[in-house]
Amino acid sequence: METKVFKPSEVQAAAQLIDEGQLVAFPTETVYGLGADATNVKAVKQVYVAKGRPSDNPLIVHVADQATVERFAQPLSTAAKQLIKAFWPGPLTMIFQLKPGALAPEVTGGLTTAAFRNPDNAATLALIRAAQTPIVGPSANTSGKPSPTTAQHVLHDLDGKIAGILDDGATKVGVESTVLDLSTNQPAILRPGAITASAIEAVIGQPVMTEQHHVGATEVPKAPGMKYKHYAPAAQVYIVDQKTDWPAALKWAANQSVPIGVMATNDVLTANALPANCEQFSLGTGIQSATRELFAGLRHFDTETEIKDILCQAFDNKGLGAAYMNRLNKSAGQTHFSV
Ligand code: TXA
Ligand code: MG
Repeated sequence: METKVFKPSEVQAAAQLIDEGQLVAFPTETVYGLGADATNVKAVKQVYVAKGRPSDNPLIVHVADQATVERFAQPLSTAAKQLIKAFWPGPLTMIFQLKPGALAPEVTGGLTTAAFRNPDNAATLALIRAAQTPIVGPSANTSGKPSPTTAQHVLHDLDGKIAGILDDGATKVGVESTVLDLSTNQPAILRPGAITASAIEAVIGQPVMTEQHHVGATEVPKAPGMKYKHYAPAAQVYIVDQKTDWPAALKWAANQSVPIGVMATNDVLTANALPANCEQFSLGTGIQSATRELFAGLRHFDTETEIKDILCQAFDNKGLGAAYMNRLNKSAGQTHFSV
């Protein structure tokens, strides 16, 4: 199959493919998604096939407005309405109880709840409106790989496997949306993202659970996606915890007989001389640019170099740093460079 690349001005043609039950990747402010008509079971099944994703892992339903959520979900709580008003469109996914049978088990993974999100991208909102249906969209990568933040990343993983892609350049945030479970009495963050726990608490005036429930192989995880290997490049990633650890880390790198990738902010890269066998990928000036560039950097070393070992900078585990460290820890399989 030839994968057609559409410009934002060609949304109608992309919507036509969604309407026909085909798969179209779409841009959001976080990462690119792999889109299909959420009400077309055959199309939804194809999403799992294209991604190579286990089918018990439920999908996010992307909507253009609150009214669409209300068609499928049980009546929204005050907190839900406040959060929609404060953060939509934006990187906050919310899980609600569904009306019985409102969405196919292929979408929900057989749960009585579903995840909804209103992405902050004009072309994609136009796509959803033109298709006249909500669009399911997991990240548009091969399952397990770093999520795609450009159309080129999507094509690298899925060219020939999907009908089209709507190309709107690089995404702004760089990691997936915050997933907030509002289906029980205690709001809980199942996946940290750019909308932080404290930002949510400030809007709803009640505490939000953030402790990440440890998911063992036999437990049923709250967010089914949390049990799978995630964001892992082919290379091994080593987390460099402190800026003061870099001299030792680079000394170790210099002693290796293979090339080493270095992902760090500009201040680290200018303060430390890079050994000849190292290749740098800048994470920019701070946590915001680092979050935006994290997946791109991991993909760069995998697809454009022979590098098999990457040293990558840690950030404080708070605010946006909680989202960054969540992804980095998974990419690295919790492996830290130790001095
Ligand atoms: O930013 C994003 O959220 C991107 C863009 C494309 O919108 N999408 C994305 O989708 O990251 P995906 O499928 O890769 O991640 C969805 C996460 C998974 O961990 C899944 O298990 C969880 O949300 N999830 C979905 N529905 C759920 C539900 N009903 N209950 C609990 N967790 C759910
Ligand atoms: Mg994903």
